[in-house]
Amino acid sequence: MDAAAMSRIGLAGLAVMGQNLALNIAEKGFPISVYNRTASKVDETVGRASAEGGLPLIGHHTPRDFVLSIARPRSIIILVKAGAPVDQTIAALSQFMDPGDAIIDGGNEWYENTERRLREAAARGLLYLGMGVSGGEDGARHGPSLMPGGHLQAYHNVQDVLARVAAQVDDGPCVTFVGEGGAGNFVKMVHNGIEYGDMQLISEAYDVLRTVGGLSNSELAEIFADWNSGELESFLIEITADIFRVPDEHGDGELVDKILDKTGMKGTGKWTVQQAAELSVAAPTIAASLDSRYLSGLKEEREAAARVLDQAGIGGEVSGASLGRSIDKKRLIDDVRQALYASKICSYAQGMNLLRAKSEERGWNLNLGELARIWKGGCIIRARFLDRIKKAYERNRVLANLIVDPEFAREMVQRQGAWRRVVGMAIEAGISTPGMCSSLAYFDTYRRARLPANLVQAQRDYFGAHTYERVDRPGSFHTEWSKIARQSKAGAGAFN
Ligand SMILES: *[C@@H]1O[C@H](CO)[C@@H](O)[C@H](O)[C@H]1NC(C)=O
Repeated sequence: MDAAAMSRIGLAGLAVMGQNLALNIAEKGFPISVYNRTASKVDETVGRASAEGGLPLIGHHTPRDFVLSIARPRSIIILVKAGAPVDQTIAALSQFMDPGDAIIDGGNEWYENTERRLREAAARGLLYLGMGVSGGEDGARHGPSLMPGGHLQAYHNVQDVLARVAAQVDDGPCVTFVGEGGAGNFVKMVHNGIEYGDMQLISEAYDVLRTVGGLSNSELAEIFADWNSGELESFLIEITADIFRVPDEHGDGELVDKILDKTGMKGTGKWTVQQAAELSVAAPTIAASLDSRYLSGLKEEREAAARVLDQAGIGGEVSGASLGRSIDKKRLIDDVRQALYASKICSYAQGMNLLRAKSEERGWNLNLGELARIWKGGCIIRARFLDRIKKAYERNRVLANLIVDPEFAREMVQRQGAWRRVVGMAIEAGISTPGMCSSLAYFDTYRRARLPANLVQAQRDYFGAHTYERVDRPGSFHTEWSKIARQSKAGAGAFN
């Protein structure tokens, strides 16, 4: 095969994401070879490429033909299920690859697996990237957010392709070299954790508006559409507005009301919370969203609990219905919008601080402002306010927390009244808003110069002699708490 007829890049793994990304690459004018073990997947993709006007995409049915059809140094994207399938695909392809060629794993892989594969690839002279890809099916086809990390040379080899394939925003394509090792996968993982938080917070806003405010689906559709033209503008708010408009094809009303209230998950949110714990970074909003998914899964238990507590008389205690009657709808809607925004800032602050902690641990030198920028388009959490987050980190690269950026600080203060009203009302009505409550508690804990941790320290020193520090002098101290307390009790007794 002469060099001109060779493909610029290859892609193996033609499930939904793989097919769409391959078509996207071909559409941008980069000849691409595709491969899948299941021959029908290859034929399906080739069929789509020709249906779309003869895109430069060539299908191959054996790993050898596939690899050899790509111009050197080769870059091969693999999009298969994380874990063992990635290792199997690498094994099948790498035997035909040459030193200097690169493998780019676009799956939601655990970052340490990528670091292991980086080492294994290096031992054979191969380059490796772990690349987060966000945007779902549509993003993959028309412009995803790409988070490649690993071997810088492997990135340079495909930089032109990725820059054209990624979503485009006002300040460039939504792709950047994230960092070495598993940095790309880690950043994608935290992106997904933030996504969990966003979805939870939106669902709580919906619950408050529906349950306390008594709003109908068509009213909700209008409100979310309206929010999407302001500070909350984002992909998730936009699709939420759409969701409320879809009728149920099997009966009356809207489909959303017929969906079983049990949330699924694939693991990246759990990894985010585990990593936050490992690094001692508080991420309560993201953790609350994960816990909410776990609790949602206990559908039968929740139904049983509802019956037991109903019989125990809880209906008379929580006042959702009575609140509903006296509610100023317009004010409630505006308050919920502000509560959602403030809660979201806290959630992003947690995600960003988790990224920074990991970056320090691993020496990744992550650029948080640049990460906010590549999330502005293509991905699931794309949102107008990511531009503000980008600017906050540009103003101050070592910003301790988004909350203390002067602009965000002002916004938080402006919204705290509404935020407290919404959370207070939800608590009174017995509607759980764990995301909003966690965000508010995070804010109130972080902004208070003095916390009751002094008492916890005293307890620790009392029962475990763990010592404590003092506010007024240096050093570490231990007190014989029980002895002194007994003496002073005895002393106090003497007065009686
Ligand atoms: C090919 O397709 C099958 C079924 O869709 C999938 O399980 C497999 O991981 C794909 N990838 C490769 C590289 O064969």
